[in-house]
Amino acid sequence: MIIFGIETSCDETSIALVEDGTRILATPVLSQIDLHKEYFGVVPEIASRAHLENINLLTDQALKEAKLSFTDIDAFAVTNRPGLIGALMIGVATAKAYSYACQKPLIGVNHLIGHLYSAFFNARKPSFPFIGVIVSGGHTLLVRVDSWDDILIKGTTIDDAVGEAFDKVAKIMKLEYPGGPIIDKLAEKGDPDSIPLPAIHMYGKKRNNFNFTYSGLKTAVLYRMAEYPETKTEDLCASFRKAAIDVLYQKTVRLCHAEQINRVVVAGGVSANSYLRKIFLADKNLNVFLPEPNLTADNAAMIAGCAFHRFQQKKFDFLNMNVYAKNDLKYDTGVLS
Ligand code: KG4
Ligand code: ZN
Repeated sequence: MIIFGIETSCDETSIALVEDGTRILATPVLSQIDLHKEYFGVVPEIASRAHLENINLLTDQALKEAKLSFTDIDAFAVTNRPGLIGALMIGVATAKAYSYACQKPLIGVNHLIGHLYSAFFNARKPSFPFIGVIVSGGHTLLVRVDSWDDILIKGTTIDDAVGEAFDKVAKIMKLEYPGGPIIDKLAEKGDPDSIPLPAIHMYGKKRNNFNFTYSGLKTAVLYRMAEYPETKTEDLCASFRKAAIDVLYQKTVRLCHAEQINRVVVAGGVSANSYLRKIFLADKNLNVFLPEPNLTADNAAMIAGCAFHRFQQKKFDFLNMNVYAKNDLKYDTGVLS
């Protein structure tokens, strides 16, 4: 059973061919970083145009790599939410055309559930229920996952996403875009306890507050740079990385206690962070599952893989399927109060 996956929700164009939800036959990814670098962020219109230029080339490349043709495909899966509307439309229009031409089912996939699925390509797979930590440039979510159809948001950011904080702090520090990998690398050579940055626990009034705030931490870096321009970049990177990641880990542990679950899947672009991987894996009370490093960033394999359970349930979409900028996962009622 072969699913053809398409991912165009942000600044990576990717096509994948995945067999039975587990075996990746091909997953070429074309990153647009060079096009967005000078703007220190993704420019939606540039992203859409680049997806349009590359999607057919990547289709040919993926089929060639997997030694398959369109007649071998059983279904077409595509990210249709959440993401940049124009960028999503390129992928969805392509998937609809392929699905119609081949007369094979169309499956719209939530990008964030796709990220969680990226840990399911490992030989050691988590079982349900598990706590999901989705950390990317656009999202910071703590979720309880009882099945692929039953996911509840327990905590989220009230301002910047954690990846966005890395990117913005890199801009403040005059480093390159995207900031996450660069800060991570420089942090390895710095002292994480050298610069006092504010605790960002946001315990708030509610005892079980699993929400995050990253804007204060970002501002603290800005003030530090202004007041002490001689600050060693490596030390500031290490101190920022520790502050940004420690809170993620600590809230995950608290949620695991509250839900009586010890299985944790950490996924999304920020799950590539080396300090994050180290502290989550060091906790022997947790059973931690992380995607392979080549699957942490946006890719179509996670979309094609995730669509496999929908295929098995015969839950398909129609050709009038829409695209959505916002996430449609349910919130626990306490999260936003
Ligand atoms: O999941 P992703 O590829 O795209 C979105 O769906 O947003 O995540 C991209 C984000 C960027 O903000 C990038 O700076 C961050 O992931 N990132 C990292 C690392 N590698 C990528 N953040 C911290 N440490 C890293 N090693
Ligand atoms: Zn993503």
